[in-house]
Formats: sequence, structure tokens, C-alpha cells
Amino acid sequence: MTDKPGLLVVGELPDWDLEALATRFTLHLYWQAADKAALLAAGRDSIVAICTKGEIGADAALMDALPLTKIIACYGVGVDAIDLEAARARGIRVTNTPDVLTEEVADMAMMLMLAAARNLRLGEAWIRDGSWPVKGPMPLTTRVWGKRLGIVGLGRIGKAIAKRAAAFGMDIAYSGRSPQPGLPYTHYPTPAALAPQVDVFCVSAAGGAATRGLVDRAAIEALNPGAIFVNVSRGTVVDEAALLAALRSGRIGAAGLDVFLNEPAIDPEFLTFPNVVLQPHAASGTVETRKDMGRLMRENLEAQLDGRPLLTALI
Ligand code: 8YV
Repeated sequence: MTDKPGLLVVGELPDWDLEALATRFTLHLYWQAADKAALLAAGRDSIVAICTKGEIGADAALMDALPLTKIIACYGVGVDAIDLEAARARGIRVTNTPDVLTEEVADMAMMLMLAAARNLRLGEAWIRDGSWPVKGPMPLTTRVWGKRLGIVGLGRIGKAIAKRAAAFGMDIAYSGRSPQPGLPYTHYPTPAALAPQVDVFCVSAAGGAATRGLVDRAAIEALNPGAIFVNVSRGTVVDEAALLAALRSGRIGAAGLDVFLNEPAIDPEFLTFPNVVLQPHAASGTVETRKDMGRLMRENLEAQLDGRPLLTALI
């Protein structure tokens, strides 16, 4: 069916999304192409839309290679890897998938908090490597309930984390440029001001130029000894060298990390710490949420095609 408009699919998507997208578009699977330049050249006169992922984005060169592009639909809420200025300058609409993944990412934050504090990795290994019958009980860990939680970035996801943490009896504080009215949480102006006030420090700010290095060396050095550090936002939000130094020195008690610089080729030093729980940028990665994300992305693409208002447009 060559009469269908072309869609560049930048990153791998589940078959259920590809099948649904193929009913309206001719798909050009960028991530599968050995010769990416040839794929772009072949689609130059037919591709009118791009779908991409939060962690991959789209740069100005890609937009220029496909000059008929009218929309970039992101399979994810974070659009920090999309060059929004370049899109705006070219009259390209940009959509994302807010709300549908909020609760899922908050679940991941709680899982990482609990797994780090209660040393899930050690408990697992204690059984699997035969330590239990030989060495007796595993070493004691530390609690999460009732502790002080600091959230960097109290947006949709931060608030969903706070809601869960409140049910754990946690005392909640957050950092942000200004206090948000009507919330029962304590506000601090910066991550560095927040850090010494909490036991668990959770980063859920949006990525992008405005938050690059927001959790800076001063914030990491201000953490209480033994603090639990969690990141479900973007690797760019944290000074990763400072985080690694704090892990190396033993100042941080444990960490739960879903996001890193240079994914998927993360700094291998993270693998060396027994007190760090790692996830491969999987916070939104359940079948249910990914189906919702795929549907919303597709609805935006189809709305653009049909000339209807976009559902979740940023530009
Ligand atoms: C990814 C995310 O997009 O929503 C975001 O900003 O980072 C994730 O949901 C997801 O991994 C899909 O690739």
C-alpha cells in the first residue's frame, strides 16, 4: 500500500504498536536499518511523521533529512532528547505521552527505594548462593516507612511518589524553584538545601537543559551519611561523577537507579557497588502502561493525519 503516508519509527516498538500504526502509515523502521542514511533518503519524499522514544529523541539533522515531517510523536513523557527549537523553527508539531505513565514510574521509585533500603539484592543472593543455611540470617538492613523523603521535582510523577510515600508514613519534603501552594509537604529551594533534611532522596525532575546537573555535587555532598539515593528521571539531572564518588566513599547508604548518562552504555563502575540496585530505564515498562503510551502516541499521529486537534501537544 504505497499510498499511505510514511512514518519513521526511530526506536523499537512492540508489535502491537507497529501493527496498529501500519493501518494508517507506511512504516520505515529506522532502528532496524543497517544503512540509516539510505533509509532516510528513500523516505525523504513520503515520510510526513516521526515517532521516537523519550531516551532517543530527534535532532535537527533528522528533521532536515525528512523535510515533509509535520509531527514528531514521542513514546514517553520526557522530550528532552527532541530538539524542540529545531521543531518549532520548522513548523513541526511535537507530542508526548504524559499522565499514562505517571503511576508506573512512581511504582518504580518505590520499588527502588525499598529494594535499596532492604537490600533486596543481598537477600536474593543469600538464598541463591546457599549462604542462609551456612551463615545464618542475612545482615540487617534499614527501614523505609516513617523516614524523611526528599523529592527533587514535584511534578506529576513526583506527586504520585509523594502519595505513595505518604501511605508509608514518610515525612515528605521537596525542592523546586518556588513552593507549590496547598501541599502538605515542606519546600526547599534547591536540592542542596533539601539533601541534609532527608533520609531518602528521590530525583523525579524532568530532563533537559533547564535541569542539567540540577542535583549537583553540593547536593550530593550534603546528603546525610547512609542516605538512600533514587533516580527515576534522567541521568543528566544528576552530577554522575559526584554520585559515583559518594558511592565509592560509602557516604550514600544505598542507591536505586533507573536512569544514567550514556544509556545503554552506562558507566561500568555502577556495576561494582553491592549496595546499588540497577534498572535499565524501565520505569514505564509494563505491558499495560506501554500499551497506553503506544495508543496515545498513535492517537496523536492519526489526529495530525486527519487534521484533528492533537491530544497532548507540546508544540
Ligand atoms: C521512555 C521515558 O520513553 O517517558 C519517558 O520520558 O523515559 C520512558 O517512558 C520509555 O523507555 C520508552 O522508550
